[in-house]
Amino acid sequence: METIDLVADVRTRVRAWRSAGERVAFVPTMGNLHAGHLTLIGEARARAPRVVASIFVNPMQFAPTEDLDTYPRTLECDRERLREAGCDLLFAPRVAAMYPRGSEEQTRVEVPGHLSEILCGERRPGHFRGVATVVCKLFNIVQPDVALFGEKDFQQLAVVRRMVEDLAMPVEIVGVPTVRESDGLAMSSRNGYLSPEERAQAPALYHALAAARRSLLEGVGVETVERTAAGTLRDAGLEPDYVSVRVADTLLPPSESDQDLVVLAAAYLGRARLIDNLRVRLGSDAALQQTLL
Ligand code: PAF
Repeated sequence: METIDLVADVRTRVRAWRSAGERVAFVPTMGNLHAGHLTLIGEARARAPRVVASIFVNPMQFAPTEDLDTYPRTLECDRERLREAGCDLLFAPRVAAMYPRGSEEQTRVEVPGHLSEILCGERRPGHFRGVATVVCKLFNIVQPDVALFGEKDFQQLAVVRRMVEDLAMPVEIVGVPTVRESDGLAMSSRNGYLSPEERAQAPALYHALAAARRSLLEGVGVETVERTAAGTLRDAGLEPDYVSVRVADTLLPPSESDQDLVVLAAAYLGRARLIDNLRVRLGSDAALQQTLL
């Protein structure tokens, strides 16, 4: 596996593959890779003969009060994992290569507020502008046929899908199911911020979501489900930011007739802000889901 930090060199490499008729799959990351990321690489491998990953801790998606400076940077270890997982090329640019005029001077991509300024976007103003901008720029550099994102960041996936559709970008977006620890905790680079005690509390987020899904399938109303889940999180020692039931496609609040839902939550635990979500399909397959819970 080759590591490249210059935009022009990525273009040269990818152009050669494309001229040989090879499809290119792309997995953008911020590094500190875990099994969830490696699953994305595996899915990428299954979809294209050439796999590119990027590692770039994107300053544009962090607020000044957030963890940009302390975000774990583990390039050597990440490189080894990517190589073992079958990645062909790692693009690991410096900030100056991505934002030569500085991130303030960067042209931005703004996805409509009803997708990007709700839920995590409400708590983290400008976050999804930073995500959409960097993902757009990475797509322009790598020019992938297909790009893979984890469903753990459900809102991010919705924002990226919308950007790709609205800007007619010729890239297929694939969402990959969340990879969990054996106790249900969704894998995340920020789990490393948890103390051993907090790590033991953290699966409460998944359990609250699973209980919320059960209640929705049993016909409990959305507001009650959200309130109960937030209370469960508080009882477990987490500070909920939001628990929200939304329509999976649009992230709008559901009406009585909506059946394809997602319950999303974010909660603070020590230094970490944990997020997670579960899909809920009401109606015909509700009974099946019930048996799987
Ligand atoms: O999910 C992430 O790791 C980041 O938000 C992404 C998509 C790589 C953009 O910086």
